[in-house]
Amino acid sequence: MTNTWLKSAVFYEIYPNSFMDSNGDGYGDFKGMTSKLDYIKSLGCNAIWLNPHYDSPFKDGGYDVRDYFKVSSRFGTEADFDEFLATAHAKGIKVILDLVPGHTSEENADFLRSAESTPNEMYDRFIWTDDPWSCPQGFKNNSGRFDRHGSSIVNFFCTQPALNYGFNRVDEPSWQHSYKSEAAFKTREWLKSVMRFWLDRGADGFRVDMADSLVKNDGEQSEKPATSEIWRDIRAMLDSEYPDAVLVSEWANPQAIRAGFHADFMLNHHANPYSKLARMQDEKGEGISYFDANGKGDAQAFVKSFTDWFEQTKNDGYIAHITCNHDTPRLAPRYSQEQLRLIYATLFTLPCVPFIYYGDEIGMKYVKDMPSVECGFNRTGSRTPMQWSMEKNAGFSTSDKPFLPVVNDKQINVQAQEKDKKSLLNFMRALLAFRKTRKEFISTDLEFVHAKGEEPLVYKRGGLTVVVNPLNVKQVAPVKVAPKAKAIFAVGKEAKPSKEGISVPPLSFTVFE
Ligand code: GLC
Ligand code: CA
Repeated sequence: MTNTWLKSAVFYEIYPNSFMDSNGDGYGDFKGMTSKLDYIKSLGCNAIWLNPHYDSPFKDGGYDVRDYFKVSSRFGTEADFDEFLATAHAKGIKVILDLVPGHTSEENADFLRSAESTPNEMYDRFIWTDDPWSCPQGFKNNSGRFDRHGSSIVNFFCTQPALNYGFNRVDEPSWQHSYKSEAAFKTREWLKSVMRFWLDRGADGFRVDMADSLVKNDGEQSEKPATSEIWRDIRAMLDSEYPDAVLVSEWANPQAIRAGFHADFMLNHHANPYSKLARMQDEKGEGISYFDANGKGDAQAFVKSFTDWFEQTKNDGYIAHITCNHDTPRLAPRYSQEQLRLIYATLFTLPCVPFIYYGDEIGMKYVKDMPSVECGFNRTGSRTPMQWSMEKNAGFSTSDKPFLPVVNDKQINVQAQEKDKKSLLNFMRALLAFRKTRKEFISTDLEFVHAKGEEPLVYKRGGLTVVVNPLNVKQVAPVKVAPKAKAIFAVGKEAKPSKEGISVPPLSFTVFE
């Protein structure tokens, strides 16, 4: 692995609309973010993932990019962005941007050019069928809006036309290009030009949106050979031109690391290990994950799937563990603040690069049934503005109409929690500070010692032993640690070595040395 800084990185994810509004127009902005860099640093974070900051009509929260070489004026000027980047760097904070490679906005100039009725230089930059009257099976399309004879294939919402990286299996040669065609190659080179533009400007890398979506008809998510070939080519470009830059994928499969990503998000889908830990619910909405105190989770299933994923990726990349993200329901209120501590402690003491979604450090809650804004739909409830204080709009904005309703909560705000030594905020700081003192946590040493049914999860990181009990009842882990083993970090009551093994209090997390 060529990159060095990612190993000890701890990220803070900022959704720019919602973080801090400096000019009272109701939207967060660059100046607002710059003013909060010290706060981010105070948490123990040394990196930021910034959700899309590009010029966009915001029909999917900015994941519909109109101009890839321009910042959104909603967030400020080009100079404001550069100042944000420079100030972050001066404080020792890296910044990765959100790269949206698979699709543009339907208002993107290259797309509009490709949509004209006569062939031109952009004709093959996007995927167009040659028939405006039907939709090819297995695809989503958009027809009747532009004069080109055909329909445009969309990658996500109908406002997001798919860029043409070609097809692996070509079924319809009249409009599907091979991923090895010149047209597909040109799209890839265009993408590299976007990356170079922002890296030259100082960005430290990218979180890559829908990274597995480039080449069509490319097989299973765990394979995607042609898409992987493209990313390996892009990674080679980075390694030679920008060796410090990192690529973090939204792919959620070990294949991402084989495809050249430095890290990949283990997201809340595909029944993956992260879901087994804290996300899974049954059809009725009842929690069936390891951290659900009803004991319906399956620690062993988690251990098995995590081990498998980790073994496949540990030599070449990292698992990115999220507290949540802009697409995912926040863990609160499903879990109490006490449970959140256990979850954060577990997530971040397993081998990973931690990602904290803004507000999760204070336990901001997912707001159910929040009316959708900018096609957030049910994701909108995770995007409410940051809760800084008990002032107007929780200190986020002085506007009379912030872009989303703000939650004012006496306990769940930064100001209140700063003052309270026992707050979740101060817990997060302590956890990250502790994690930083022990190189075991950023090593590839991991051994699950015991995890059966409802019994506590136990794992070793080098010479450290971690014991977690998510249930409301005391448990015994039939695992021995030295009788004098010292607890060096705990959530709740410390576990204690006993004759039968380790006696683990309800709702507790302990690290023994
Ligand atoms: C990713 C983003 C999500 C966006 C989608 C389409 O999943 O995280 O917010 O809507 O891609 O770009
Ligand atoms: Ca603003």
